[in-house]
Amino acid sequence: MGKALEGVRILDFTHVQSGPTCTQLLAWFGADVIKVEKAGTGDITREQLRDIPGVDSLYFTMLNHNKRSVTLDTKSEQGKQVLEKLIKRCDVLVENFAPGALDRMGFSWERIQALNPRMIVASIKGFGPGPYEDCKVYENVAQCAGGSASTTGFDDGPPLVTGAQIGDSGTGLHLALGIVTALYQRQTSGRGQRVQCAMQDGVLNLCRVKLRDQQRLERNGVMKEYPQYPNGKFGAAVPRAGNASGGGQPGSIVKCKGWETDPNAYLYFITQAPVWKEICKVIGKESWITDPDYATPEARLPRLKEVFAAVEEWTATKTKFEAMDILNQYDIPCGPILSMQEIAHEPSLRKTGTVVEVDHPTRGKYLSVGNPIKLSDSPTDVKRSPLLGEHTEEILAEIGYTRSDIESLKSNKVI
Ligand code: COA
Repeated sequence: MGKALEGVRILDFTHVQSGPTCTQLLAWFGADVIKVEKAGTGDITREQLRDIPGVDSLYFTMLNHNKRSVTLDTKSEQGKQVLEKLIKRCDVLVENFAPGALDRMGFSWERIQALNPRMIVASIKGFGPGPYEDCKVYENVAQCAGGSASTTGFDDGPPLVTGAQIGDSGTGLHLALGIVTALYQRQTSGRGQRVQCAMQDGVLNLCRVKLRDQQRLERNGVMKEYPQYPNGKFGAAVPRAGNASGGGQPGSIVKCKGWETDPNAYLYFITQAPVWKEICKVIGKESWITDPDYATPEARLPRLKEVFAAVEEWTATKTKFEAMDILNQYDIPCGPILSMQEIAHEPSLRKTGTVVEVDHPTRGKYLSVGNPIKLSDSPTDVKRSPLLGEHTEEILAEIGYTRSDIESLKSNKVI
C-alpha cells in the first residue's frame, strides 16, 4: 500500500515552527517535501537551543522529519533559475516568511502562477489584512492577539500564554488542511490557488468557545459555570477562568497524594451530571445525591468550590493513577496531570507511534512526537530530519543539472 500523498511534490520554504509543522505532516502522509534553505546557515532553528555543540538542535530535528534538504541562494540570479525549475516541477509551495519576502525575492503569486498554473501557494503570516499585516510574529504574540492569553490564567493574575504551541503548530495544522483541500479541488479545476492562514485567526479559531462566552456575558452579565460566580465580579470581557472546565460539565484540577513534593500530583476531575450519584458515593458524600442544594447541576453551580473541595479531600488520599483507576470503574471523567517525563516513558504512546525514537547520524537517538493522525491505509514511518543540503545534488540532478553545472553553482556559492 502506497502513502496517501505519494506523488505530491512540495517546495518547502518554511522555517522555525509554524510552517515546518505543516510540511512535516504532509511528508508523513507521503508527500516529497523539498526543504529549501539558505546556503551556509539553513533554517535558523538548526542552531537554536542546541543541546549538543555543532549538531542540529532538537528544535529542528523534531519539526523536519521525512523531508529532503536543498541549499540554495534564492536571491542570486543562478539561484532564481534553479527555483523556477523547482516551481515548474512541484505541486505546492509552502512558506512562512515575513510579509512581502517572497515578492521581494521576485516570486509573487502572479509570477508563480505564470510559471506553473497548477501550483498551490500556501502561506502563514502573523496577521491577515488589516492594521498589523506587515508585522513579524512569533508564537506568543499570536496567542496574545488571538484571544488565548486574555482568557488563560487566574482571575487575580496577569494574562498567561500556554505551553501548547497553538499559534505555530496550530496554524501549521490549519494550513495543512487548506493545502490538501486545494489539492482536492485542483483535481476538478485543474488550477492551483492561494491558501493563507494568519496565526491570529488560527488561535482565535481554537478560542472559539471564548467568543461564545463573550456574547453570553454581554447578554446575561454572568456565566454561572465560571469561578467568578456567584461571589466574584464579572467585567465587560470574558474573564480568566483558572482551571474551570470550558464546557457545560464543571471540572477542576484537584490535588492528589504526594502533591506537597510532586508538582504534577494532580488530577482533572469532571463532575459530569449523569454520574453525580457515583461521584457522591466515591467521595463519601451520599447525602448530596438527594440534598436539593446539590442534587441538580443548576443547584450545584453556586457551590462548585465546596464540591471540588470535597472531591479534593478524597483525591488527596490517592495517587493520581489510583484515583483514575477507581473513578474509571464508574465512568467518571477524569485525567491525570502527566509530566513530560511521564509522557516520554508511557509505553502506550510508544506503541501507537505517537512518541517515537529516531536515530540521527550526528546526534544519535532522540525522542520525538510522531504523527498524531493515524490513517489505516497510510501508516507513518518517521524518518530523521535531513542534514543541511544533504539532498542538494540529488535534487538538482532530478531537474536536469549535470555534474559540471552543480560544480559551477557550488563555486559561485549558490548552493
Ligand atoms: N536564499 C536567500 N535568501 C533567503 C532564503 C534563501 N534560501 N530564504 C530566506 N531568505 C531571505 C528572505 O527572502 C528574507 O529576505 P528579505 O527580508 O530581504 O526579504 C530573509 O531571508 C529573512 O526572512 P524572514 O522571514 O524575514 O526571517 P526573520 O528571521 O527575520 O523573521 C519570522 C522570522 C518568523 C518572524 C518571520 O518569518 C515571520 O513573521 N513569519 C510569518 C509568521 C510566522 O510563521 N511566524 C512563526 C514562526 S514559528
